[in-house]
Amino acid sequence: MLRIILSGFGVVGQSFAKLLLSRSEDLYAKHGLKPRIVGVFDSKGSAASSAGLDLNRLLEVKKKYGDIRKYHNKERNANGLEMIKGMEAEVLIETTPSNYKDAEPGMSHIVTAMRNGLHVITVNKGPLALAFPSLIELATYNQVQLKFGGTVGGGTPILDYAKNSLRGERILSFQGILNGTTNYILTNMSTGLTFKEALSDAKKKGYVETDESLDIDGLDAAAKLVILANWIMDMKVTLKDVKIIGIRDVTTSDIKKAKSHDSAVKLIASCNKELEVAPKEILLDDPLCVNGTLNAITFNSEHSGQQTIIGKGAGGMETASSILRDLLDIKQEMFRIEIT
Ligand code: HSE
Repeated sequence: MLRIILSGFGVVGQSFAKLLLSRSEDLYAKHGLKPRIVGVFDSKGSAASSAGLDLNRLLEVKKKYGDIRKYHNKERNANGLEMIKGMEAEVLIETTPSNYKDAEPGMSHIVTAMRNGLHVITVNKGPLALAFPSLIELATYNQVQLKFGGTVGGGTPILDYAKNSLRGERILSFQGILNGTTNYILTNMSTGLTFKEALSDAKKKGYVETDESLDIDGLDAAAKLVILANWIMDMKVTLKDVKIIGIRDVTTSDIKKAKSHDSAVKLIASCNKELEVAPKEILLDDPLCVNGTLNAITFNSEHSGQQTIIGKGAGGMETASSILRDLLDIKQEMFRIEIT
């Protein structure tokens, strides 16, 4: 049994619980994986059971009361850090919102978990964007695994592709559309909407982060760029190393000008010695030139040339599926260590 503490029970946390419910039988049959969520906490409080929480009940309680504390008849108020320090578990899954000022509360959750011997899966980008190199060091020092497959590309395995499928290759540079919201806005601007109109439409569709600046001003794309640069290019960088220009000042005339060159304006995150996020013209027939909320990334490798991966970069179930992949990797590595 793999015991999990879940930090955050928003869209991604709930999707992960649903995924476990729908996949429990085949996860055991195909992968020998028997995951149990033994504790869950959010900013209000927590619910816990050392035998494993009843996920149907947990989801119902969240839906009905919006408060996981109601899972227990008697209110529990163990906070997240107490739970991480005190509960018997193997893995922490960190899903609280990304924050690029101090990365809290996710940073403390991750650091405490690793210091207490827990493996960590994070879809929260804040801690990695601000402190990737030191978090990797901490994981190595504590002999735990730190996984973050869902931080870039949602369910599209961009990090895995570059790290594993292209192993042995030398990736010389890459560039990508790593933020779906800004891509949706720019795509709509190309049909004649102004920036303001396109932003308001994206908000109505629920795409824009609560703090719109994270999408619009390029921070989300820059955080993903930092994660990619550290993981696949071995660069020891953080958010402050990225030159960032968002899409706030892109005008309809910029879009028209691009069209006259058979191009479109896209928010491009690039790593070519320097790290940069900025609106750029991309030829319409470039595979990178995807529309709507899609993400895309082109890797330029020394011998295998250019390859582009395209996929959905966000979504609850998509991101939950990347958490499951990370969990399977953790289990496999734990098993490998056990038998060697
Ligand atoms: N706000 C992000 C996007 C969500 O629009 O791509 C996933 O990180």
